[in-house]
Amino acid sequence: MTDNKRRWFLAGAGSGMMLAAAAGVRAAEKPDSPERGGAEDVGAVEDLMREHGVLRRVLLVYRECATRLRRDRAGVDPRAIADAARLFRSFGEEYHERKLEEAHIFPGVLKTGGPAAAYVDVLIAQHRRGREITDYILAVTNKGSIASADAEPLARVFDQMDLMYENHAASEDTIVFPAWKAALTAAQLDKMGDLFEDIERAQFGHDGFEDAVARIGRIEATLGLADIAQFTASPPPRV
Ligand SMILES: [Fe+2]
Ligand SMILES: [Fe+2]
Repeated sequence: MTDNKRRWFLAGAGSGMMLAAAAGVRAAEKPDSPERGGAEDVGAVEDLMREHGVLRRVLLVYRECATRLRRDRAGVDPRAIADAARLFRSFGEEYHERKLEEAHIFPGVLKTGGPAAAYVDVLIAQHRRGREITDYILAVTNKGSIASADAEPLARVFDQMDLMYENHAASEDTIVFPAWKAALTAAQLDKMGDLFEDIERAQFGHDGFEDAVARIGRIEATLGLADIAQFTASPPPRV
């Protein structure tokens, strides 16, 4: 075994991550970090896109909770929903949106004056609407149980948040971030990657992404959503 392989083996063993990954279960543990022999030094755009991955996992929680609210309201754990909303607030709204996109990405894209600049106003409006929605989710789930009168309105809010933010993040991933990146030199991009890391550490005091992945993993585990095999589609109808 080479030194590298040995380090990787020792990092994985004992954490249960190797077994969990083999079974397709999203472990509620920290992902690989440089200290554990995992990936390191991600670029600015990869950073933003993997943050979207965490936010998409919150949206998947919302989507599943919308279905459950309509099927069996009493079986829905409001604390898990509130945890998901708090994660969206701290990691999505206060960090990813406010400290990275609104402070750096959107101004940079506006400066290019290209077609992606036309997206900025609507993306900011959607950030604002998302924050109103998070306020609402926290208010409704703050009562210990979800009132019968709140179930369908909350489910509808989840549907709308899911549709809005999936479109939002997909447009950023494929149009806005590429336009921002194209306007920078490799050296400037490198600098932005370092700056984003500094902002992350200033905001969270450590690696916020790792913590966010661990938090969404715990929420999924609480709701029985950790095993992704349950989401494998049925075979399509024969034609
Ligand atoms: Fe955004
Ligand atoms: Fe984003």
